[in-house]
Amino acid sequence: MVTLRPANLDDMGWFHTLACEPTARALSFTTEAPSWLGHRMWYAELLGSQDALAWVVESPEPVGVVYVRRRAKDATISVNLSPETRGKGYGPLAIEQATSHTQTAWGLPVTAYIRFDNTPSAIAFSRAGYVYWGSATIKGHFTLTYRYRYV
Ligand SMILES: CC(C)(COP(=O)(O)OP(=O)(O)OC[C@H]1O[C@@H](n2cnc3c(N)ncnc32)[C@H](O)[C@@H]1OP(=O)(O)O)[C@@H](O)C(=O)NCCC(=O)NCCS
Repeated sequence: MVTLRPANLDDMGWFHTLACEPTARALSFTTEAPSWLGHRMWYAELLGSQDALAWVVESPEPVGVVYVRRRAKDATISVNLSPETRGKGYGPLAIEQATSHTQTAWGLPVTAYIRFDNTPSAIAFSRAGYVYWGSATIKGHFTLTYRYRYV
């Protein structure tokens, strides 16, 4: 079972730990690990923003994080699980729940940007009900756009 708990200031270290994890870094658009100072600023903005929602993924212990950001016509979603909890089906469940919360809060379509070389992520988003939407080059990386199929 997977639940989402709204993130708070005490979760700043957990978000940083996951953001610095080598595989997640290698599959991200900015491969350099964030400094603690940079992360603090980023996290404060995330929690304080009217245009963002962030959760800790629990099962029942923390297994990852997921957050969404509102844009003009859609919301974007990001997810990151700890290495030892990947491949167990937690990701699709967390994505489904975050997507549902986002649609309830904002009534917008939800978009995921997935690097072409991140096959596990494409599988997980497909399992959560996302479909291929298009492609783009982001910071030099060929990227697939997936969108939740039920708006
Ligand atoms: C992408 C991610 C959220 C998917 O969640 P998940 O819970 O691992 O998803 P699933 O359990 O459905 O597994 C999806 C696929 O991951 C792959 N996988 C399996 N074990 C894995 C492991 N230990 N580590 C990484 N990927 C694994 C498999 O290809 C699996 O597909 P399969 O079940 O058909 O073999 C999660 O792996 C993760 O946090 N990865 C690192 C960060 C990341 O890439 N975030 C997304 C950026 S767009």
